[in-house]
Amino acid sequence: MKIAVLGGGTMGEAIVKSILRKKLAGRDDIVISDVAKPRRDVLNNRYKVKVTGDNLAAVKGAEVIILAIKPQDFPAILGQLAGRLKSQLIISIAAGINLDTICSKLNYFKVVRAMPNTPAQVGKGMTAWTSAKDLSNKDREIARSILAAMGEEQYFADEKYIDMATAISGSGPAYVFLFIEAMIDAGVHIGLPRNVATKLVVETIVGSAETMKKMAKHPAELKNMVTSPGGTTAEALLQLESGGLRSLMINAVAAAYNKAKSLGAK
Ligand SMILES: NC(=O)c1ccc[n+]([C@@H]2O[C@H](COP(=O)([O-])OP(=O)(O)OC[C@H]3O[C@@H](n4cnc5c(N)ncnc54)[C@H](OP(=O)(O)O)[C@@H]3O)[C@@H](O)[C@H]2O)c1
Repeated sequence: MKIAVLGGGTMGEAIVKSILRKKLAGRDDIVISDVAKPRRDVLNNRYKVKVTGDNLAAVKGAEVIILAIKPQDFPAILGQLAGRLKSQLIISIAAGINLDTICSKLNYFKVVRAMPNTPAQVGKGMTAWTSAKDLSNKDREIARSILAAMGEEQYFADEKYIDMATAISGSGPAYVFLFIEAMIDAGVHIGLPRNVATKLVVETIVGSAETMKKMAKHPAELKNMVTSPGGTTAEALLQLESGGLRSLMINAVAAAYNKAKSLGAK
């Protein structure tokens, strides 16, 4: 499968790394196009794939074109591609750029819209995606295989869920990293060395997520298993609830969702 990735930033690199790891395409079949020469050199050294600064040269002969540039660079790229597409599958990962915008600007419908997240960098991504209605099952499965190479994937027939997923799994790693940072600071505050606090926190987060995945229990049930009557955990939970952690999270996610919707409406 010949793949062109336009935009070799954080996400473009994560996609290429995943495709190579899962052997969906060989090094000779992947071209990354990026405006920045130093970035192209890094990617070429790291992955031994072809690199170019010319988007049109990159898409020549490609069967799949992945759009991994920032939303503000989309109008220029869509303008470049319009009228030049015949049978290529387009996969866009841009936040807030909806299928209607992409399909109408390109006058082309073989388009998938995906929202991956940064854990894709280590093969633990969560990607929500949808596709233009007329996309064939074969193209949908090609898209699925590429997105699944980054970790887990979830297809939505209705595009409205992509903005919701953006607010949960797309932006979510930032919420979790903020929580992790705060918990490490708390450990340091009570006297733990920072490196030890970091290990305790990271393993606790990974272990808790794995427990929930494997035991498939409601989070409240798992929380109750840690919380003995009149104990230390109950004291901490009182503080978190009094500070409004739950409503704060709901408001934060709602704000991200509204922002994602407003980007799409522009
Ligand atoms: N980061 C996330 O958590 C995340 C999650 C899901 C989806 N996304 C989406 O993924 C896309 C890429 O995000 P990112 O974080 O990977 O951004 P990024 O690191 O800034 O990567 C974009 C790359 O594209 C290059 N570029 C700019 N204009 C170009 C052009 N005309 N042709 C070719 N390359 C060009 C940029 O170069 P310069 O830096 O020199 O401009 C940069 O290297 C965005 O649309 C974003 O919404 C991001």
